[in-house]
Amino acid sequence: MPSTAVVGLQWGDEGKGKIIDGLAAEADVVVRYAGGNNAGHTVLVEGEKYVLHLIPGGILHEGTINLIGRGVVVDLAALAAEVDGLVARGVPVEERLRIDGRAHVIFPYHRHVDRCVEIWRGEGRIGTTGRGIGPAYADKVARTGIRLADLLRPALFERRLHAALAEKAALISRVYEQEPEDHTELFEESRALAERFRSLIVDGASLLAEARRRGCRILFEGAQGSMLDLDAGTYPYVTSSWTGVWGIGGGAGVPPRAIDRALGVAKAYCTRVGEGPFPSELRDETGERLRQAGNEYGATTGRPRRCGWFDLVAARYAATLNGLDGLLLTNLDVLSGFDPLRVAVAYRVEGRERTDFPAEIDLLEQAEPVWRELPGWQEDLTAVRCFRDLPAAARSYLRFLEQEIGVPIERVSIGPGREQIFPGEHGSEDLWLS
Ligand code: IMP
Repeated sequence: MPSTAVVGLQWGDEGKGKIIDGLAAEADVVVRYAGGNNAGHTVLVEGEKYVLHLIPGGILHEGTINLIGRGVVVDLAALAAEVDGLVARGVPVEERLRIDGRAHVIFPYHRHVDRCVEIWRGEGRIGTTGRGIGPAYADKVARTGIRLADLLRPALFERRLHAALAEKAALISRVYEQEPEDHTELFEESRALAERFRSLIVDGASLLAEARRRGCRILFEGAQGSMLDLDAGTYPYVTSSWTGVWGIGGGAGVPPRAIDRALGVAKAYCTRVGEGPFPSELRDETGERLRQAGNEYGATTGRPRRCGWFDLVAARYAATLNGLDGLLLTNLDVLSGFDPLRVAVAYRVEGRERTDFPAEIDLLEQAEPVWRELPGWQEDLTAVRCFRDLPAAARSYLRFLEQEIGVPIERVSIGPGREQIFPGEHGSEDLWLS
C-alpha cells in the first residue's frame, strides 16, 4: 500500500484541498505536517463548501484518522472554532481527529508579534497572514516555544508561559514600542482548551509507525506551496515551515523512506498572495481578468491574489526538488477565453537567459520572463469529463507543460466539484495504485 504525499508546487492556493479530498476518500490516515491556520483548503461536497485551515482533509470521510503532525503550529482557539464549525454540520470530528503532543502552540502574543514585526519591516514587509505562524516557529527554533504536551502539565506550562510572557512583553514594548496585550486569562484559557483536546492528543510518530506496520494507506497533506518553503522558496518572502516533501520526515514523524510517492499540485496559471518576487506576474488587465475568472481571493484572509501566467522555471525547480511522480493540474477551466496563452519558459536576468531558479532575491525581482505563446480556446470546460473531450488547444497546452516539466499529468481539474476532475493523457485510472 503506497503512502502518498501531496504538495503545492507554486505559492500556495493550488487547489490542494480538492485533490486531498479525493485521495482521502481511500486513505486510512491523513497527516498535516507543516504550517498552521495560515492555510485554507476549500472542498466542495454536494454543493456545500468547507474551508479547512488546520484540520486535515480526510475529516469529511468516514473511517479516516486525521493527524495534525508535530511540525504544525496549532492555535488552539482557532482549532476549537474549526472543530465546532464541523461538528455543527454533523461531522464526527472527535472520532477522526488526532493531534501530536509535540506540536507547538500559537499563543495570542505570537499574533501580536507577527503584526509588530510586519510594521517594523515597513517596505520590506512579507505580507503574512497575521496568524502568528512565523513567531511561533521562531520560538520553536529559539527553544522558547511551548508544545501541546506541555499544556497538559500545569506546573511546567505555568513556568514556561511565565518566561515566554516576560520575554514577549519586553520585546513588544522595548523593541517594537507597542503596548503588550493583557494575558491574565491566558493560562486558564489555554489549559481549558488543552484539556478539551486531551483525549485527541497522541504521539504521532507511534501512530504512524503502527499504521505503516498494519499496511495502512497514509496521505501526507502539504500546506502552502514549494515556492513559499523556508529553504527552497523565495526567501525571505516565504512562510516559516518546510512545505515540500522534505518537511514530512520531521513534521509528521516518519523516516524519509516512508514516503512512497510524491504528487505535486499546480494551477494552470500562477497566483501569489503577500509580497515577494513573482516573475510571471501580470500587472495588467489580463491579470485582473484572471483574478475575476478564477475568483482569486485568499481562502484565509480574503486578500486579492496576484495573478500571472504559468511559470515553467519555478515548476521544473519545484518538481525536481520534490522528486515528483505525478502532477495534478487545477483550474484549467479558468483559462477559457484567454487567447493566446503564455508560459514563462525562462527568465532574462542581467541580460542573460536562465532556466534555473535563482537564489538571489534581487535577481528574482528583476527577472523578466521569456514567454512562449500557445493558442488558447474559447469553450467552457466545466462539463468536460475526459482528456480527449478537451478542445485541441487545451490538450496541446497540457502536453506542452507535461513535456517541459517531465512529469506525467495524473489529473486535470476543471472546477471545484468532486466530479470535475479526470486523468491526464498519461494519468492512471486509480491514483492510489499508480
Ligand atoms: P505566514 O505564513 O502567515 O507567515 O505568511 C508568509 C507568506 O506566506 C505570506 O506571503 C503569505 O501570504 C503566504 N502564505 C501563507 N500561507 C499561505 C497559504 O495557505 N496560501 C497562500 N499563501 C500563503
